[in-house]
Amino acid sequence: MKGEQRIKELQTMKAIAEILNESTDLSGMLNCVLRELLQLTGLSTGWIFLINEKGEYKLAADVNLPSALTRVDKHPMCNGSCWCVNRFNRGQLSRAANIMECKRLEEAIEHGYGDTAGITHHATVPLSAGDETFGLLNVASPHKTLLSEEELALLEAVSLQIGTAIKRIKLVEKEQEHIILSERNRLARDLHDSVNQLLFSLMLTARGTKEMTKEESVKEMLGYIQELSQEALQEMRALIWQLRPHGLEDGIVCALFSYGKVLGLEIETNVQGVLNIPHHVEETLWRIGQEAFNNCKKHAGSKSAKLMIEANKHVVKMQIKDQGCGFHYHEQEKLPSLGLAGMKERAELIGGDVNIHSEVGLGTTITVRVPLK
Ligand SMILES: Nc1ncnc2c1ncn2[C@@H]1O[C@H](COP(=O)(O)OP(=O)(O)O)[C@@H](O)[C@H]1O
Ligand SMILES: [Mg+2]
Repeated sequence: MKGEQRIKELQTMKAIAEILNESTDLSGMLNCVLRELLQLTGLSTGWIFLINEKGEYKLAADVNLPSALTRVDKHPMCNGSCWCVNRFNRGQLSRAANIMECKRLEEAIEHGYGDTAGITHHATVPLSAGDETFGLLNVASPHKTLLSEEELALLEAVSLQIGTAIKRIKLVEKEQEHIILSERNRLARDLHDSVNQLLFSLMLTARGTKEMTKEESVKEMLGYIQELSQEALQEMRALIWQLRPHGLEDGIVCALFSYGKVLGLEIETNVQGVLNIPHHVEETLWRIGQEAFNNCKKHAGSKSAKLMIEANKHVVKMQIKDQGCGFHYHEQEKLPSLGLAGMKERAELIGGDVNIHSEVGLGTTITVRVPLK
């Protein structure tokens, strides 16, 4: 009987190793492994928090949570603090910790949130690989307040494997990002070498042919072709710039200034403070600035715009202002299209915000603020 049990355990361990080796999708993997692990240990419930460098946690997987914890879209699991996450963030959790009382469960009981299925405590194991840490694995069972040494050792062994798998998936994600970036670069280069050159020849040919004819109506048509191809060329240039944010190596101001020039806008710049902006913030400002300039060009009917950037240790502020036609904009309204909404989204992703101020007949001001750490 003992032998059979052992074989079953080994089979489950093998299943876990396989899941961890093969998966490329983090959340699917964590859920699968957690289910297997509970089966292996005979515990009833488990959940995994992934915790980022800022100490913010996210529920990444859960199996068989009691209803007191799953109410309102698992609200009790996604909000507030708890002892295990706090200990992890203080760096006091380097190995499996035997049973801890659970703040989330205590609160659920206190507020009468519903059934806790007799669970009051849980064990906590950090997920790490080398000196990188990723989060916590928690497991529990009804009325269980202590795990055996053997159970803890098993949990630690599996957690180590999970940590290594998370690291691998993160590396793959980074690599994919790199592939996408170089693909975009390639596309930009190809567009530049092919379509752009063709449009350029078309424009020159139209111009040349126009000189060869005396027929006014043909001249007019050729002039029109010349104009159209020039416009297409300019749009193409802008598109290529968006694909490949080159220019950023010389800093955000330089890049945006050149982008404005590509669009045919006259840009007045005003820079204050020492610009030592982290790369990811710069990339975001760059994208938002591009869209703001696109809008100046497309909608404002103005040939110029002002770019102001101000930075100190705590915050960077970028403002793009045109004195064009302006438009009706209300903060509460859902944004009508992708451009403005995209600006907001991008800024919020890095903890910043965008303020849009526009008055019909007077112009538009876009202000972006991003806190720096
Ligand atoms: N600088 C601006 N000047 C005038 N109107 C603008 C400006 N920026 C945006 N708008 C108005 O807001 C609308 C939404 O802009 P946006 O979300 O960027 O979408 P899109 O540029 O694709 O139309 C535009 O269609 C335009 O009417
Ligand atoms: Mg737009």
